[in-house]
Amino acid sequence: EKGGHRHFMMKEIAEQPTVVGQVLDAYVSPDAHGIMMDLEGIDFAGIDRLSIVACGTAYYAGLVAKYWFEHYARLPVDIDVASEFRYREPPFAPRTLGIFVSQSGETADTLAALRFSEGKAARTLALVNVPESSIAREADVALPIHAGPEIAVASTKAFTCQLTTFAVLVVKAAHARGEIDDAGMVEMLTDLRHLPGLMSHALASDELIRAAAEEVAEARDVLFLGRGQMFPLALEGALKLKEISYLHAEGYPSGELKHGPIALVDKATPTVVLAPHDGLFDKTVSNMQEVMARGGRVLLVADARAKDQAGSGVWKHITMPDAPEFLQPILYAVPAQLLAYHAAVAKGTDVDQPRNLAKSVTVE
Ligand code: M6R
Repeated sequence: EKGGHRHFMMKEIAEQPTVVGQVLDAYVSPDAHGIMMDLEGIDFAGIDRLSIVACGTAYYAGLVAKYWFEHYARLPVDIDVASEFRYREPPFAPRTLGIFVSQSGETADTLAALRFSEGKAARTLALVNVPESSIAREADVALPIHAGPEIAVASTKAFTCQLTTFAVLVVKAAHARGEIDDAGMVEMLTDLRHLPGLMSHALASDELIRAAAEEVAEARDVLFLGRGQMFPLALEGALKLKEISYLHAEGYPSGELKHGPIALVDKATPTVVLAPHDGLFDKTVSNMQEVMARGGRVLLVADARAKDQAGSGVWKHITMPDAPEFLQPILYAVPAQLLAYHAAVAKGTDVDQPRNLAKSVTVE
């Protein structure tokens, strides 16, 4: 049942090229020329704002989607953790589409946020893994994320399938709003078609990551940094690590480092930097130098170009394949998950059933 793996979590991490491929088969035509996604009349050209609501890892998927929707579709996005949403009684701008993200489709706060939004949002859309769940049934439109059953408490393949589903939705929105033309759409969909292969390539770093994780597991605190669309990955990497290894971990946008968290940096505190070579990479290099100047150990997860530019002084490198910028948050989920997994195994925790946590949080 674990497909030869010791834990469901590792099975689910390893399955990602396959399940992400399933998402693409469901939503992108084989020639990458068209999107097959029935939104039951939701037209992004008639939407002025998105309100994304979710908890935990699903929230971080929504946070990546915010960067994407704003950048590619020029669509403003509000995002909330579900437990903060309805009690605040947020006002809805006209023509707001509410998007609710939940693997289980049963998370109490997300369901309550959906119910609160009914009649206030123009339409409600759910991204769910369980098609017969409450959230899927109650939303105006439900989009399955096609991850298949996720057993481990720590969410892995649901996250990358949520992101892949969002990615297709972003392309659809960008096209409907005239931000990209047909050729631009085909280009983005073709990029997406490369994801399963890139993820397999990322999985091949497993041994290197395991070696790094065994050292990280000796620490008490771990910092994760990312900029722009990689910032939510820093949050996700920290959440994954704390959930299953019980190490204290915090994710920050790289630029926030000197506004507080740098006080934590010393020789004993590893800093994991998730930083593909992108337009913001120079700024990230200077953030890493600030960490290294204080004796901090930097674990750089980056492509070869970023690795070259980072120079000496980096404690460990995990090299990721080159990938189109759009896909990087999905790809970099893999090393973040593997790092948490191997740190937990090194610590001997109950990886699939970590203490104090439930797979589905059906009470407030
Ligand atoms: O089923 P949901 O996606 O609504 O669950 C949301 C969170 O409870 C969930 O992502 C949680 O944070 C995971 N344990 C993260 O690994």
